[in-house]
Amino acid sequence: MPSVIAVENLSKKYIIAHQKQMGPTTLRDTLSNSAKRFAETLLHPFVGAPKNDPAHEEFWALKDISFDIQQGDRVGIIGSNGAGKSTLLKILSRITEPSSGQIRIHGRVSSLLEVGTGFHPELSGRENVYLNGAILGMSKTEINKKFDEIIAFAEVEKFLDTPVKRYSSGMYVRLAFAVAAHLEPEILIVDEVLAVGDAQFQKKCLGKMDDVGKEGRTILFVSHNLAAMKTLCNTGILLDKGQVTFNGGVEGAVDEYLGTDKLHKNEIHWDNIADAPGNENIRLLSISVKPKKGTVLNIDSGVLIEIQFYNTIINANLDTTIHLLTIEGVPVFASGTPLSRNHDSKEGYYTATVEIPPHLLNSGIYKVTQIFGRDQCEVLYKIGDVVSFEIQDTVIRGINMPRIPGVIRPMLNWSTDYLEKKS
Ligand SMILES: Nc1ncnc2c1ncn2[C@@H]1O[C@H](COP(=O)(O)OP(=O)(O)OP(=O)(O)O)[C@@H](O)[C@H]1O
Ligand SMILES: [Mg+2]
Repeated sequence: MPSVIAVENLSKKYIIAHQKQMGPTTLRDTLSNSAKRFAETLLHPFVGAPKNDPAHEEFWALKDISFDIQQGDRVGIIGSNGAGKSTLLKILSRITEPSSGQIRIHGRVSSLLEVGTGFHPELSGRENVYLNGAILGMSKTEINKKFDEIIAFAEVEKFLDTPVKRYSSGMYVRLAFAVAAHLEPEILIVDEVLAVGDAQFQKKCLGKMDDVGKEGRTILFVSHNLAAMKTLCNTGILLDKGQVTFNGGVEGAVDEYLGTDKLHKNEIHWDNIADAPGNENIRLLSISVKPKKGTVLNIDSGVLIEIQFYNTIINANLDTTIHLLTIEGVPVFASGTPLSRNHDSKEGYYTATVEIPPHLLNSGIYKVTQIFGRDQCEVLYKIGDVVSFEIQDTVIRGINMPRIPGVIRPMLNWSTDYLEKKS
């Protein structure tokens, strides 16, 4: 069977500026800037990178990767933060051009990449559906046929004629996903759609992607939710620092990924603010996970997660939230706290510590997504799988107890009574 996507010796180089850049300050700005960039990319797809300059450093986000994808493959692309997953999807969607190498694609591609790409912020939901259909090469009649289904799926009927820049990020991604999945692409490319939106919508997206897959269309799917990936995909490509380190069955790709020790990092810190993950608002400086009691993280020890970061937004209400997930990406809980309540955030270093009580988590490996926000609704910066940790089973009288099923293992109050013997 001929391959629908052939990638040959593909590399992507970014030039990193070593200066503090002034950038967008709100999600809305970020959205409109991305849309502007998208429009610019459409108009000038081959604008070159900046020339060599001492204040700039070259960085290879993808290095010499090659693979083939067959028609009908449902391919999970797995890898740690910064591995190059989104970069690869952007190149395949022709949002970014490669620095070298080739891609060949046979079929109509529809993609849902980061929030902001593909939609024009000033246009309404309705207009964006037609715009996207037109970009995919569909006629107005074809789009009309799909229109009601898209809107019903996205659950945005009431906001159809509102410019999408007024949408919440959840609404935005719901519509974007609905458009990408319903406009009958031959190849569907989806990046981290499950990171936004509530659990019910995530389930709906996975169901829809499953349907698309069953119709024999090709899917490329990036997610940190490995359980979802295993259900949806049949093959997997593992990326590590811009290189393919595994290409085969999805189970094998997940096992290989979980086997890499990079995932088991209880602590991570960045010495230099400029290199730290984040953006012009916030830079994450460290996260560490420690037992509250004793030296080993186990069921009895409790867990302390300490976050240090540098904030540059002043006079705002900031907040920080963690999402705790199982190693397979199943959410366990989210918990957050305001950092400032009276519009009095200051520029400078902050720390936040959260305590997970003993006897809540079962033994197993967990990972943390860290989110910084404003006014408890706007995401300023989010980083997935930033640290992970293992909770050990407790040893009772020298015996390792078998693992009890379940993500959590709370100690609950029971009461029992002896009543009487049957007479
Ligand atoms: N426009 C850009 N300019 C400079 N560097 C970039 C740019 N886009 C991505 N990078 C860098 O390229 C690397 C790969 O980024 P990419 O977004 O592809 O990672 P990813 O695998 O999608 O990570 P994540 O799981 O966090 O989404 C990262 O180190 C990132 O900082
Ligand atoms: Mg990404």
